[in-house]
Amino acid sequence: MKISGMGLSVGEVAARSGVAVSTLHFYEAKGLIGSSRTAGNQRRYPRSVLRRIAVIRIAQKTGIPLAEIEEALSTLPDDRQLLASDWQRLSERWHTDLTQRIEKLTALRDQLTSCIGCGCLSMHDCPLRNPHDELSSKGPGAHLIEDD
Ligand code: FES
Repeated sequence: MKISGMGLSVGEVAARSGVAVSTLHFYEAKGLIGSSRTAGNQRRYPRSVLRRIAVIRIAQKTGIPLAEIEEALSTLPDDRQLLASDWQRLSERWHTDLTQRIEKLTALRDQLTSCIGCGCLSMHDCPLRNPHDELSSKGPGAHLIEDD
């Protein structure tokens, strides 16, 4: 794909990132990405915007709410090219949250065939792991999978 010297057009960003132009406009309206304007008032994006968009998309796919992504990205400088140290700081910030999400997803993957303590008493090991739904005394929820 030929990239113009003045930065990427919205169409070039959409083609390379796989994100619709309307979504790019939405990201820009939310302050997640930024662009400059040509004399003809056309948006031009720095190439580094592709990494920002990729991080937004992956974070969204892992279930991180857009508001949280917005807040995290707002800590990154937008007046210069981002450095590895900037991304390092972001990854440290998300490390705990992502680790918890990974743990929950792993628990879900690994425990779907056994009792999760939800009160249904329908699995073979419910009588063992949640006899007479005693876990209901802890309140609502699937306590064997949700409790930290
Ligand atoms: S899976 Fe629901 S109570 Fe065991």
